[in-house]
Parts: sequence; C-alpha cells; structure tokens
Amino acid sequence: MKLLPLDKPELLEQAAGWLARKENHQWLDFGNGRPSFTPALLKIMAQRETHFLRMYTSDANDVPVGILGLNAVDRIFRTATFWGLSGDKSFRNRGYSTPASAAFLALAFRDLGLHAINTWAVDGNPSIRIIERLGFRYVGRQRQCHYIDGRTHDRLMFDLLASEQRESDAGWLLRDGRVRRETDSEQRLAQPG
Ligand SMILES: CC(C)(COP(=O)(O)OP(=O)(O)OC[C@H]1O[C@@H](n2cnc3c(N)ncnc32)[C@H](O)[C@@H]1OP(=O)(O)O)[C@@H](O)C(=O)NCCC(=O)NCCS
Repeated sequence: MKLLPLDKPELLEQAAGWLARKENHQWLDFGNGRPSFTPALLKIMAQRETHFLRMYTSDANDVPVGILGLNAVDRIFRTATFWGLSGDKSFRNRGYSTPASAAFLALAFRDLGLHAINTWAVDGNPSIRIIERLGFRYVGRQRQCHYIDGRTHDRLMFDLLASEQRESDAGWLLRDGRVRRETDSEQRLAQPG
C-alpha cells in the first residue's frame, strides 16, 4: 500500500471526480454544502498548510483506490479533522481503507507534529466501525446538523491522541512510502528489553 501526494494532474482529476460523487460527498462536509470539487480547487487545497491529503493504493499495485485527508490543520493547537473515502463502491469492504488510514494517521502525527486528531461520521454510517478500530474515542453527538436528501442526521464525534495512536497502531511500518504490517521478529526487535 502506498500513500501518494496529490501532485499530478491525473491524480487531481481522479480525486475531484470521486469527491463529486454523491455516494461519497453526502457523508462529508467541506463548508457551504460544497458538493463540487474541481481539480484546480483540490490542487490549491493540497498545497495549503491547513490541509493534508493523500491518495491510497491497495497492496496489489500502485493504482489509487481512495483519498484520506485532514482539514483544519492547526499548527498552534496541533489539531486537525480527519476524513476519508474510497473512490469507487467496488473498492469497498476489501480491507483497503483501514490500514491506509492507520498509516496516514501515523504519518500525520509524526510529520505534522499533531497532538490530537478529531473526526466525525453521520450517525449510522458504517465507517464508524473503522473509526473505532483506528483507536478513535467517542466524545459526543452533534444533533441534527447534517442533511442528506433533505433529512437531518446527527454527527458522532471522535478524537484520537498521538499517544493513543501509537498504542493502537504499533505494528504498521512506513518505509519508503510503503506501508506493511510488522513481522513477529520485527515486533520483538522493537520491544525494549
Ligand atoms: C468509509 C470508507 C472509506 C471505508 O472504506 P473501505 O475500503 O470499504 O474500508 P475497509 O475495507 O478497510 O473496511 C470496511 C469493512 O470491510 C471489512 N474487511 C476488511 N478486510 C476485508 C477483506 N479482505 N474482505 C472483505 N471485507 C474486509 C472490514 O473489516 C470492515 O468491516 P466492518 O467495518 O463492517 O466491520 C468507504 O466506505 C467510503 O468511501 N464511504 C463513503 C465516504 C464516507 O462515508 N467516509 C467516511 C466519513 S469520514
């Protein structure tokens, strides 16, 4: 699995196409109910200090299958808001996004020096199970603040501290931009004593 920066026109084009799909953007919020993303807008976002974006691939090859992002990256308070999507429905439920998200969060804590990352999901979104598996802790419910097809939904809020991420995701190795599980012998070597 690889985490790819959005630094090529074809990647920006693909990511903008995925974000434009209702099946994806209905679960997210980029302000002003913005459903449409142009590659140019995404390029600006990718270059801003307040955002951190990566596309992820499967283990099989280098073809991107989804996007992971941080919005509202705050270098003073060392916080950010996590979101993600898999590009196409056919890419889902294959175990692609969970390890990619774990690696992405490790990268964000390490390279951006963040202390706490928060996220939210619309109540009932199956992604809540992934959020919890990544070590996020439920911190509250924001009521009737999200609209899908004219109906209101609650958002469930979660957060994750850098120290908790290290506990829950020790075992993911990030080497040369690739991510894989540590082998047992690597884990033994990494343990003190
Ligand atoms: C949320 C989202 C990114 C998840 O992506 P995904 O690639 O399907 O996630 P995973 O495959 O890692 O995990 C999904 C399920 O597949 C299961 N799974 C893992 N490996 C698997 C495998 N090899 N074969 C089949 N299923 C597998 C996981 O255990 C998980 O099950 P559960 O959560 O029902 O218990 C995707 O559904 C999506 O884009 N949704 C729309 C946007 C959205 O809701 N984003 C979240 C808001 S931030």
